[in-house]
Amino acid sequence: MKDLSLYIHIPFCKTICLYCNFLTFANKQKKIPEYVDALVREIRERSSKYRDREIQTIYFGGGTPSLINPELIKKVIQEVKKYFDVKKDCEITIECNPESVDSERVRTWRDAGVTRFSLGVQSLNKKTLWRIARPHDAKMIFRALEVFKKSRVKHFGVDFIMGLPGQTLNSFKEEVETILTYKPTHASFYFLSYDTKKIDLFAKECPGEEEQIAMYEWLCGRLKRAGFSHYEVSNWALKGEECEHNRRYWEQKDYLGLGLGSHSIVDGKMWEDGSDFDAYLKDPLLVANEMHIDQDLKRMEYIMLRLRTNKGISLREYGKMGDVNKLSARAEEFIVSGHLRKIGNSLKATEKGFLLLEMITKKLI
Ligand SMILES: C[S@@+](CC[C@H](N)C(=O)[O-])C[C@H]1O[C@@H](n2cnc3c(N)ncnc32)[C@H](O)[C@@H]1O
Ligand code: SF4
Repeated sequence: MKDLSLYIHIPFCKTICLYCNFLTFANKQKKIPEYVDALVREIRERSSKYRDREIQTIYFGGGTPSLINPELIKKVIQEVKKYFDVKKDCEITIECNPESVDSERVRTWRDAGVTRFSLGVQSLNKKTLWRIARPHDAKMIFRALEVFKKSRVKHFGVDFIMGLPGQTLNSFKEEVETILTYKPTHASFYFLSYDTKKIDLFAKECPGEEEQIAMYEWLCGRLKRAGFSHYEVSNWALKGEECEHNRRYWEQKDYLGLGLGSHSIVDGKMWEDGSDFDAYLKDPLLVANEMHIDQDLKRMEYIMLRLRTNKGISLREYGKMGDVNKLSARAEEFIVSGHLRKIGNSLKATEKGFLLLEMITKKLI
């Protein structure tokens, strides 16, 4: 049987954070039941094409999947299990926001089959959280972490953003030390990206590039000492706690997106679900931007995705898609400068290289 992962998009949030560029709405909560009905229709209709596939991982992302009634998440998982062949012990992740985590919800999600929780912390600083218009304060973050602890949740990760307003190297170090006391098994640290104009509202209050680099370098050392492996540019995990779902993206495995605006890549084709909310409710099977992934696109994506991970580029695998000699020649200057390393038959980015990935990837491609 062939493999497949499922990504399920829940496009609702309590409020919209100033830096966010995800497809999500704060004014459509009344339509959540209608949306879930459309999602269920999409699951039923699309599943018939994937009878020969075993589902390896399921990921509820958003938006804020923890915001909607947990019984609806349960219903979606039940439908998925009814219509797809879901592997026993399938990894099922849900993204949670601190203000919508409580022990009752955690119980329902787990009853439904959820195995991993990803908590969007972003910052532990009261003023920073307020400045970026997060719908929670630091107290709610600690409450959510306590709920995980009391509910004996084994696999949970925390998401942070580096480069937020008011953040300094020292305040960042304190936040990381505090979060480590809660013993997360997974941690994601992203540099603030500037896709939305609203960021101009606080851009002047953000730490500069040098300070952000200092944060990242310190973080790499600190998480290593805490026993985490740096398995992707922005992701760290304790042994065996890597997010299998995301690992499969980076390994170019097939995934099917379900829900508004979700992306899919299956059998060398990629497409997106439509991103118009009302149109999705009427017809959840509408598709946009369908395209064939040719050999060269696959090769470029291979370089880009693999360099993000600690697996790196396997020159043997690359040889099936492109010219290894050309790639090795282009890599040489970065090996000399310490941004790439050649280990056996693999080419990997160093932590110094992770900071310049975009430029290195472009040159290698
Ligand atoms: C789908 S998002 C949001 C999940 C959840 N609603 C939350 O806010 O915590 C997943 C993660 O992407 C990161 N993220 C979102 N916008 C970002 C941005 N502009 N720059 C960097 N990271 C961002 C955040 O760390 C967030 O937790
Ligand atoms: S809660 Fe998460 S998804 Fe919603 S607006 Fe904020 S960052 Fe974006």
